[in-house]
Amino acid sequence: MRTSHMKLFFFIFLFHSFLFLVLSSSSRNFPVIPFDEGYSPLFGDHNLIIHSDSKTVHLSLDESSGSGFATHDIYLHGYFSASIKLPSDYTAGVVVAFYLSNGDMYEKNHDEIDFEFLGHIRGKDWRVQTNVYGNGSTHIGREERYGLWFDPSEDFHQYSILWTDTKIIFYVDDVPIREIKKTASMGGDFPSKPMTLYSTIWDASTWATNGGKYKVNYKYAPYIAEFSDFVLHGCAVDPIEHVTNCDSVQTSETVPSDVTQVERNKMDNFRLKHMTYSYCYDKTRYKVPLPECVIDSREAERLIKSDPVTFGNGRHRRGKRHHHQAKEAASF
Ligand SMILES: *[C@@H]1O[C@H](CO)[C@@H](O)[C@H](O)[C@H]1NC(C)=O
Repeated sequence: MRTSHMKLFFFIFLFHSFLFLVLSSSSRNFPVIPFDEGYSPLFGDHNLIIHSDSKTVHLSLDESSGSGFATHDIYLHGYFSASIKLPSDYTAGVVVAFYLSNGDMYEKNHDEIDFEFLGHIRGKDWRVQTNVYGNGSTHIGREERYGLWFDPSEDFHQYSILWTDTKIIFYVDDVPIREIKKTASMGGDFPSKPMTLYSTIWDASTWATNGGKYKVNYKYAPYIAEFSDFVLHGCAVDPIEHVTNCDSVQTSETVPSDVTQVERNKMDNFRLKHMTYSYCYDKTRYKVPLPECVIDSREAERLIKSDPVTFGNGRHRRGKRHHHQAKEAASF
């Protein structure tokens, strides 16, 4: 009796492990398409080079122009991914962006989901920023910034955005780095209208590196970003009729958006180790965290230690002296 129970339990355990493996690998197996199939040049055509196999594309920034490409279609939800290799060496002021937007269709109330790579002075790593706007909520920034556990200019790494009707997840390789769950109180701030996927390289001297302190230096141009492994697994929408050929319920099903326990552990570890900024903890901007924020006490503690003025409690006064005192106070 006992042993047969044991066997049954063991069998159920194996079966679950099997299911788990199947489900957790399925979101990564979307087909990779050639550049021409999904994308067209957007600007700076002379700085966009499509390799003959159409699998790899270069975008460059020089004194004359940046460059960019965009999808032919607009999408309501989906999984969007590319492998990107960033320019190396001195890249201050350079921004490479991989993002969804409908700013060209909705001037006043556009949506946006961003991956932005912010260049740096020599010897310092690229910073990654993620951000989300919904229905024109541009006065409410939802930025987060992170370091990476590798040098993104050394090799290709996969950057992905998963967008469903209920959540948004940003991935770096197989690690989810940020999850935004839609809450009722977010209202229109959660992106809800069809968007185009873009990738661009441009001169953001005025803000990208230390708030504009370090500008693009064209002595080191051209700055070249390489792209490959394009995945566009989304619900394409007719741009004129705005008719979808798959509804959002189906999308949620065909694009698995559950974060497994293994992935969640990876995400927690990543955020604890590499997150350098999150609007959810920025007390100088939001006295009360925005409704979708899930406050993690360990994340909070780490950010307060790194920057008590921005993330600490009740220390909003500016000035070097206070900053210094706050730092000392935090290093107990
Ligand atoms: C989005 O913005 C438009 C125009 O400002 C407004 O009419 C609409 O109600 C908003 N939608 C949501 C979901 O908040």
